[in-house]
Amino acid sequence: STKEYANILISRPDPSVALITLNRPKALNALSSPLFIELNEALAEADQDDAIGAVVLTGSEKAFAAGADIKEMKDKEYSDVFKNKFLENWALMTNIRKPIIAAVSGYALGGGCELALMCDIILASPTAVFGQPEINLGVIPGGGGTQRLAHAIGKSRTMELVLTGRNFSAIEAEKWGVVSRIVGEGEGQVVKEAIDMAKVIASKGKVAVQAGKETVNAAYELSLAEGLRFERRIFHGLFATKDQKEGMSAFAEKRKPTWTHS
Ligand code: HXC
Repeated sequence: STKEYANILISRPDPSVALITLNRPKALNALSSPLFIELNEALAEADQDDAIGAVVLTGSEKAFAAGADIKEMKDKEYSDVFKNKFLENWALMTNIRKPIIAAVSGYALGGGCELALMCDIILASPTAVFGQPEINLGVIPGGGGTQRLAHAIGKSRTMELVLTGRNFSAIEAEKWGVVSRIVGEGEGQVVKEAIDMAKVIASKGKVAVQAGKETVNAAYELSLAEGLRFERRIFHGLFATKDQKEGMSAFAEKRKPTWTHS
């Protein structure tokens, strides 16, 4: 896309990958309402673009995002936030069909941590610092932190983090399964590895990738019995695709598959 945004940067490190970089360096990428409107627009555009197979979302070396914009929030009244559904549009990104990989360096605090948790995969730089410090501001996480962290790391750890507001390190995040892995040291390394992963995902059949994302996400919403049934039905459905015929024929014929994404 050639579109210019005020709070984010868009690039195409590979024809199959969109890279979205949060770009409010002076505010450590604080997630203002205008920023989130742009982010939602950029994600929707990437979702519509048939050439793109996966999206990487990142910030700067110092901050993925230091949270929702406190200066924007501080004078709001209950009636404003309730009537205007303040921050509810953040959840729009969870409807994006294509995989979103968060490449996290530096601070991912409050809404920044929640933004990473809304992505499908998180890769962390050794410098990444996560946390839900909202308790220190007289509030609680409002972008899914209490729910998504509890699913990811259990009740006791989530309670500790939410009620004390203490940060947690990349090493803790990896040990607890919040992130899939910590990448090597060095500037730009986490973005590089996220782009490499996005290219691998983008090289697969898009129907199966979308089905895989939707089905894994169902594990966070459905009971085990419902989730297993959902998985099996989606799996059965993939036998109606050309990519299933191609993928299995290619294996039997000892050649590489050519996906038609149909
Ligand atoms: C607005 C912010 C900000 C934020 C940093 N800044 N975080 N502005 N909202 N969340 C601004 C600072 O005011 C400062 O602006 C500039 O960015 C640089 O920050 P410093 O504090 O000077 O940097 P440093 O000393 O390195 O400290 C980094 C930091 C600290 C530890 C990350 O900035 C910090 O604690 N930030 C707030 C973290 C936080 O509480 N996040 C949760 C927000 S609540 P000036 O103009 O002074 O240079 C939230 C609710 C979620 O996210 C609800 C979601 C739906």
